[in-house]
Amino acid sequence: MKISTLLLANPAFITATVFAATLRPVPDFGDNPGNNQMLIYVPDQLAPNPAVIVALHGCLEPALTYYLEVKDLPPASDKHGFIIIYPDTQKDSHCWDVATNKSLTHNKGSDSLSIVSMVKYAIAKYNADPSKVFAIGSSSGAMMSQVLAAAYPDVFSAVSAYSGLPYGCLRGSPGSSPFTSDPACSKGEVRKSGVEWATEVRSAWPGYNGSYPPVQIWHGTADQVLDPQNLQEEIKQWTTVFEVQLTQKRKDDPSDGYTRSIYGDGTQFESYLAEGVGHVVPTQVQETLRWFGLF
Ligand SMILES: *[C@@H]1O[C@H](CO)[C@@H](O)[C@H](O)[C@H]1NC(C)=O
Ligand SMILES: *[C@@H]1O[C@H](CO)[C@@H](O)[C@H](O)[C@H]1NC(C)=O
Repeated sequence: MKISTLLLANPAFITATVFAATLRPVPDFGDNPGNNQMLIYVPDQLAPNPAVIVALHGCLEPALTYYLEVKDLPPASDKHGFIIIYPDTQKDSHCWDVATNKSLTHNKGSDSLSIVSMVKYAIAKYNADPSKVFAIGSSSGAMMSQVLAAAYPDVFSAVSAYSGLPYGCLRGSPGSSPFTSDPACSKGEVRKSGVEWATEVRSAWPGYNGSYPPVQIWHGTADQVLDPQNLQEEIKQWTTVFEVQLTQKRKDDPSDGYTRSIYGDGTQFESYLAEGVGHVVPTQVQETLRWFGLF
């Protein structure tokens, strides 16, 4: 069948492919030590100097699945004109490398550096705003979001992490997947002081003396994959990095059963505990875009 016949015969297909942008691969985006794939979503109506959001899938799934799962994100891009990068990793059961010193360290290599190459490619190609680069991720993608915040604070402007682990928790583990990693982190058995966790973050780029991107984290109390104790560890980590303390707890924010904790003046760090929610907390695109200061 000719394409034109197909389009005419199927109005839904027209809506999906003609009037909205599509997800497409970018074969050569630069230095790629993690051997990752880059997919990009560029809206038809790109904003001038657009923001860039890196959207990071979890383990056991390709980027395409995450693109379909977080279904409010592409329409938000169509509406507001920002670019979305969907990095994809296939090795280690599709889990991001959050265990090797290469990936955990500024400009040392592996997946984190490949993701930074994707960002630099998008900035150059679309004249994007380097001060509006964000990362969002679920599970393994949440772990990687925090790696990017710690190791590339010069690249990322804010991150939002759904159901992850503290930065550095899996350092030195044989892998980063449920099958290859040391299970102590996922069980919530790796407990450190705020100072120890913050020292981890600072080790990502020794000598860096600038500020870190604002961090928003989410976790469910019924998470059977990554124990909710990890939320407490992440809170210790980032409140120490930012030198902030709890100032407000808001019940049922943004919806029933969620408790939002605000620290300091609320601009550097916030956390959400989702009562009865398992792995992973569904992405709240609106709350994350607000955190990024986009809308
Ligand atoms: C990774 O870095 C830590 C310090 O942060 C160090 O103690 C450890 O030996 C390093 N591991 C390897 C394999 O180089
Ligand atoms: C921060 O780092 C920059 C570049 O490494 C250096 O030029 C500057 O003196 C440092 N500032 C402080 C307060 O240490």
